[in-house]
Amino acid sequence: MVKFSFLAVVLTAFLASNVNGENYTVQVGVDDTLAFAPDRFDANVGDNIVFHWVSAKAKHTVIEADREATCMKSNKPLAFASVAYTGNPEAPPKAVWKLDTAGPLYYFCNIGTHCSEANMYAMINVLEVGQTPQVPGFTKLPEPKSTSTSASPSKKTKAAAADEPSSANDGKRVSFAVVCGALISLAVNLI
Ligand SMILES: *[C@@H]1O[C@H](CO)[C@@H](O)[C@H](O)[C@H]1NC(C)=O
Repeated sequence: MVKFSFLAVVLTAFLASNVNGENYTVQVGVDDTLAFAPDRFDANVGDNIVFHWVSAKAKHTVIEADREATCMKSNKPLAFASVAYTGNPEAPPKAVWKLDTAGPLYYFCNIGTHCSEANMYAMINVLEVGQTPQVPGFTKLPEPKSTSTSASPSKKTKAAAADEPSSANDGKRVSFAVVCGALISLAVNLI
């Protein structure tokens, strides 16, 4: 009886630690440029990519491509494709792309010549569950730039945000280690 309830607790912790992926942030039209930020990072199957349209100066889309540096929509039947939004730095429109397969994902903006001339395309390297991202993404959006201050604050917020993913990943690793330890001791108890 004790062992069964312990098993239930361990399984619940294990499932929770794997089902709740990270939410990685990508800025669409970062700093009013024709670019995504970050434009390349590692994530895991089960994570979500939350695109934030942050530029009020232009309309943009997020459209899945089959290869890098192409400006053609993917042939996959369920290829990701957002609607076109004009951004809002204070309250950005969002779209969420859930990562369900390992491998590289490519995307671009299909408005005008944003992709073909301004190279507005990017990629995400999707790793299997449990593989450690080497180039982590951002789990928080940097503070919107204040219109009245110098250019330096955005650098500061980017540096501060850079600390977030590694601590989040440490948390994941620790809980994974705890669950593994618990499973091993459970197995030992059952023998
Ligand atoms: C990711 O976002 C969803 C929806 O806002 C939320 O329910 C979930 O707890 C978030 N996950 C993490 C790891 O922050």
